[in-house]
Amino acid sequence: MKFLALFALVSAAVATPLALYDNEQSPLGDVLPTEYPGFDLKLDAPRLVQLEGQEEPVVMTELEKIQAKAQGIRFFDVTETTDLGSLAQFRTAAKPSYPPPSHNESVRAVLDTLNIQNLEDGIKKFTSFRTRYYRSDTGKQSQTWLLNKITELTKEFAPKLLQNSISIQEFPHTWTQSSVIVRINGTSTDDDGVVIIGAHQDSTNNWPFLPAPGADDDGSGSMSILEAYRALIAAGWQPERAVEFHWYAAEEGGLLGSQAVARSYESRNVNVVAMSQYDMTAFVKRGTREQVGIITDFTDPDLTQYNKDLVDLYLDIPWVDTQCGYACSDHASWRKAGYPSVFTIESSFPESNHQYIHTANDRYDISDEFSFEHMREFSKLAVAFAVELGGWSKSS
Ligand code: BES
Ligand code: ZN
Repeated sequence: MKFLALFALVSAAVATPLALYDNEQSPLGDVLPTEYPGFDLKLDAPRLVQLEGQEEPVVMTELEKIQAKAQGIRFFDVTETTDLGSLAQFRTAAKPSYPPPSHNESVRAVLDTLNIQNLEDGIKKFTSFRTRYYRSDTGKQSQTWLLNKITELTKEFAPKLLQNSISIQEFPHTWTQSSVIVRINGTSTDDDGVVIIGAHQDSTNNWPFLPAPGADDDGSGSMSILEAYRALIAAGWQPERAVEFHWYAAEEGGLLGSQAVARSYESRNVNVVAMSQYDMTAFVKRGTREQVGIITDFTDPDLTQYNKDLVDLYLDIPWVDTQCGYACSDHASWRKAGYPSVFTIESSFPESNHQYIHTANDRYDISDEFSFEHMREFSKLAVAFAVELGGWSKSS
């Protein structure tokens, strides 16, 4: 029954492709162009899509996917990762436990160095690309900027010895934009675990060929974790257990980048101890009080409790339980792979930025609701998460 309703919805959207896009630049007439300059996206290409509550994935075109998403239907595009999660049952590592926070003073010293100006400069640059769409030329350019920025920050802020323990890599995909992975090796020889802090670097407009500055979604999360990384290395921090920062490509295409990365970790039997996603960290809706939204659905309960404890301990604002639904962001890919993941967002889901995301108005200067101070709270959380779960090797 549910399937039929969904099918009707998707078919209806296909029958009226233009009705969704109330924008003068959207294509007029019945026939859509097959080529869009600067984009490598074929609207009639078939994709395999996993929808909520369905046993099997369904085939739809890129255009049908775009239309489904614009109607609020969430999905994993599993075209390249149909077997994600199939190895979870064979994993040997015990379910991780999360000991109480114990690095109070070291964490606080780093928190004091988090810099609002860096967040502002980062957002200005990252939103200056016309779109960060994962199949666009400018989406490749924004990714290259991000990679270069991380490299520069590492050279400028990490002590020489620490630099030898850091690797900065592009994770290539079948589309233009790569995911970016930064790893700080742990000093421990008997802990093979990895802690992951993630955000998605891509942006999209509901109609992907239109401008998408993606300031909040997810320029904010991307820059919140970048500033956390900068502050940590500037403090000379090296973890005992490896910690990685991930900037995923193609989240907006159906969690494509994070699924590909999670698939790779799964196939190499990597021991991911904890994954924390930051998607939308800037918006404080007018008339609401500033909070941190802790997502309680499709997340790991133990790690979520731990994440709340860190908010209580280290942030200046309280948390609120909230839900985001099926396939909401990249944490869902890690969960699908059987790894513990959490998701922290700018507010409760209802009070989050539904108004501007996926439009040309997802800008930092569109209203005073976009807050760099709020973004910094998430940088604090990322620092605390990295140090408390990765440890701090004082021998380094
Ligand atoms: N950041 C959004 C998720 C979101 C939307 C959070 C609104 C809070 C309020 C994310 O980038 C997104 O757009 N996700 C897609 C699903 C994805 C699998 C295509 C969505 O919500 O449609
Ligand atoms: Zn997002």
